[in-house]
Amino acid sequence: MKPGISGKITSISGATVRTDLSGLTLFERVSVGLHNLTGEVVRLEKEGTVLQVYEDPSGLGLDEPVQGHGASLTTTLGPGLLSVMFDGLQRPLDILAAKTGSFIHPIHLESSLDLKKQWSFTPLVNKGDTVSGGVKIGYIDEGAFQHPIIIPPDKKGRVESMAQGAITLEEPLCSLEDGSRIFGYHSWPMRVPRPYRKKINPQGPVITGQRIIDFLFPLARGGTSIIPGGFGTGKTILEQTIAKHADVDIVIYAGCGERGNEMSELIEEFLELVDPRSKSPLMDRTVLVVNTSNMPVAAREASIYTAVTLGEYYRDLGFHVLLLADSISRWAEALREISSSLEEMPGEEGYPTYLASRLSSFVERAGVVETLSGDIGSLSMILSVSPPGGDFTEPVTQALLRTSGAFLMLDTGLANSRHFPAINWMQSYSLYQNTLADYFAKNVSRDWEVLRILCREIMHKEEALKEIMEIVGIDGLQEEDRLVMTVAEKIRSGFLAQNAYTADAFCSPQKTMDIIRSFTDQFLKGQDRTKGKPENETL
Ligand SMILES: Nc1ncnc2c1ncn2[C@@H]1O[C@H](COP(=O)(O)OP(=O)(O)O)[C@@H](O)[C@H]1O
Ligand SMILES: [Mg+2]
Repeated sequence: MKPGISGKITSISGATVRTDLSGLTLFERVSVGLHNLTGEVVRLEKEGTVLQVYEDPSGLGLDEPVQGHGASLTTTLGPGLLSVMFDGLQRPLDILAAKTGSFIHPIHLESSLDLKKQWSFTPLVNKGDTVSGGVKIGYIDEGAFQHPIIIPPDKKGRVESMAQGAITLEEPLCSLEDGSRIFGYHSWPMRVPRPYRKKINPQGPVITGQRIIDFLFPLARGGTSIIPGGFGTGKTILEQTIAKHADVDIVIYAGCGERGNEMSELIEEFLELVDPRSKSPLMDRTVLVVNTSNMPVAAREASIYTAVTLGEYYRDLGFHVLLLADSISRWAEALREISSSLEEMPGEEGYPTYLASRLSSFVERAGVVETLSGDIGSLSMILSVSPPGGDFTEPVTQALLRTSGAFLMLDTGLANSRHFPAINWMQSYSLYQNTLADYFAKNVSRDWEVLRILCREIMHKEEALKEIMEIVGIDGLQEEDRLVMTVAEKIRSGFLAQNAYTADAFCSPQKTMDIIRSFTDQFLKGQDRTKGKPENETL
């Protein structure tokens, strides 16, 4: 905290507070009131400063003190993040409380990380080595996970001494010749993207284990998918199923403005489920950032920045990270609320005019990068959107459509008929499919692309034939069209639909291929029959 720079509260309107304190900077962190509530500077005026308070402001009074921190809101990065659930301001939440009820309370700690915990540190550099931002100087064993310790992006120098063995985060791991000390953790301003050497075009996929996604609308590592869908169309279940099964190293799950009890259930499941690759609980590769509907709305705005900064950190350690957010609409609503309390000029549907630019700069933080130390890391995003009334022309969906690579549209009709995941196969798309075709050809099957095109063709033909069939009935259709209808029905129920509550919740790409091949083979054979060709000439 900057000593001396303190002022008083001059007005309070909900979570928006004015102070006579000047000399603050935009987005600077502030402590507000007698209880030191966390807030951020959102506007500078000639006669003082406007603050947004991110904790429950009830109880705040006029003339209570305000203090600037001289730094913006930061995210603390280091060992001990995995398997923790944080609130939007990165305060650890009590998982036990979450398990017993839908009210999740923050634990009041000095730091987001446990600084007293003993870790075992193995150094990788020696006295005299030159190190700079991003360089790995050693690792800490965090259960089964080897957590690389990197030099913070803004530091460099020559190593004077290195620690080894049992250590806590309070003790320096490395001293540089200029006297600066490197600890096992560092902080980063959450609204500033972390630096990297360069961005690389996405190449491999994020295997989600969802057949319709991996096969028809795949997500590239470093890419972004959005999942817009009305209430009850399965956004949460889909995101949570992917969080459990995606083939990534680290999962950051941001529960943003959704129901608290859904998060409690998710945690229980995560604690029980085992990661098939590491054989340890799924929670061990997961960080949860939750700002449920019963927590202060304003902090929700900050929560996705906490989540993305965590994601970038693991990317910078050379990992493949998946960030899931449910739902971005609730974040946008928080932004709208803050904007309106500042009496800013509203744009479309009351959202601030900078909604689209905020969203696109958030989505731009996804990508595959060459890290500062030359490793490859990626941050992929899957963002759910809950458009009011299921209207996809609303501003949040539209803004995200322009910046995301894949669009998985959830369909109320499909959800009502209990077809899950309710992804509409006619209107969804993925711009990554051509990039990823090579990967699937090499790693799964050479005819992945041929069958994908054939599958889409069958589904499109079915759509075209539906109306005719309603009039003439299936028996009124030509034999060839009847075949389309029969196979399409099988593809819908046996391939595109996937129950999240059974062992079928995850399907490997190889199995995905085997299933679709059984249906397309049946189609091709049937076609040959209708054309009078002998069966053994197919494919
Ligand atoms: N993949 C799925 N498999 C089985 N049931 C599902 C699936 N997805 C959604 N459901 C059903 O739909 C309900 C609503 O899903 P939910 O994810 O909560 O919707 P949303 O988040 O869009 O409001 C769930 O409680 C569940 O019964
Ligand atoms: Mg939901």
